[in-house]
Amino acid sequence: MKGMDSMAHEVKGVIARSKGAPVELTTVVVPDPGLGEALVRIQACGVCHTDLHYREGGIGEDFPYLLGHEAAGVVEAVGEGVSGLEAGDFVILNWRAVCGQCRACRRGRPWYCFSTHNATQKMTLTDGTNLSPALGIGAFAEKTLVAAGQCTKVSSQVKPEVAGLLGCGVMAGLGAALNTGQVGRGDSVAVIGCGGVGCAAVLGARLAGASKIIAVDIDDRKLAWARELGATDTVNSRETDPVEQIRALTGDNGADVVIEAVGRPETYTQAFYARDLAGTVVLVGVPTPDMRLELPLLDVFGRGGALKSSWYGDCLPDRDFPMLTDLHLAGRLPLEKFVSETIALDAVEEAFAKMQRGEVLRSVVTL
Ligand code: APR
Ligand code: ZN
Ligand code: ZN
Repeated sequence: MKGMDSMAHEVKGVIARSKGAPVELTTVVVPDPGLGEALVRIQACGVCHTDLHYREGGIGEDFPYLLGHEAAGVVEAVGEGVSGLEAGDFVILNWRAVCGQCRACRRGRPWYCFSTHNATQKMTLTDGTNLSPALGIGAFAEKTLVAAGQCTKVSSQVKPEVAGLLGCGVMAGLGAALNTGQVGRGDSVAVIGCGGVGCAAVLGARLAGASKIIAVDIDDRKLAWARELGATDTVNSRETDPVEQIRALTGDNGADVVIEAVGRPETYTQAFYARDLAGTVVLVGVPTPDMRLELPLLDVFGRGGALKSSWYGDCLPDRDFPMLTDLHLAGRLPLEKFVSETIALDAVEEAFAKMQRGEVLRSVVTL
């Protein structure tokens, strides 16, 4: 380890001890960074649906989980074998540290890497119980231990609560438009579902130069947020048929790119029929294992185009995070609009409830 005297660190962290139980603020023991690892002092971490899914047992049974994964902070120390990262660097954490070795990486498609890295050593409770960090991060904590490749250095002028957003949901939405959907100048885009992910897709479409951006949701509050982020038109799909509306708004053609940010068969079907012939559908919403999709195969054939999924916005952290933070600093990407509130580490449970009631785009823990 370089940069400080060797010792384990006792810090406060938010854990999900068992399925469905409210989260707890407790003491977490974080080891010094070993080979290829980095110790990061967390400054901000957004509250994401995935944290709640862990708490509810929807992702695995490896309790207790150390929650939080949408974070920014300052590197406190790095372990042996780490280059290009040092104590004092301001970083955004990512949950896909690409390996550079697997078949996807070697073929030049590292955003499909299937061998992404996490820290090797375990963080624990004070009684020695191993913790499972959410998405290999665990950042609702004063400090966390990650693989060095999970840290992407960005300008320290960006506020931590804004930078951290790029670690998950906002990057997923921006990337769905920019990377997966390849939205271009003058394109028409529709986004179905305007939570944090969908609103980020709206912003991504605007950044890419789309001329028409149609936001669809069943909640007028979300539609108002989408408009603030760049939607030119809004459709409340509880009141009107979104497919007809999107067609009407695009000269009866359908949109060039439709981004589905809900993750349900009904909304996917809407996306499928709301696009222009040979248009693109991007699925960035995450379905559950029980969901099934039924479509006439002839329509799949006859409508042509591309049906794509977007994992983490097909992002490459080292390419995309510095670019997006620089655009933010240049006043071209108002990421601060996603921060509905900043909260303390002991308010995560309350933030889950607000998220479920649809009251926030993002609650962000600041430390
Ligand atoms: N039609 C249109 N919009 C819908 C519908 C529907 N049938 N059902 C829900 N919505 C809207 C909600 O009103 C909400 O605004 O979809 C939005 C979902 O947003 P959030 O719950 O805030 O979720 P978000 O964080 O944006 O993530 C969206 O992407 O990463 C995945 O797991 C995540 O599947 C989730 C999706
Ligand atoms: Zn790889
Ligand atoms: Zn997330």
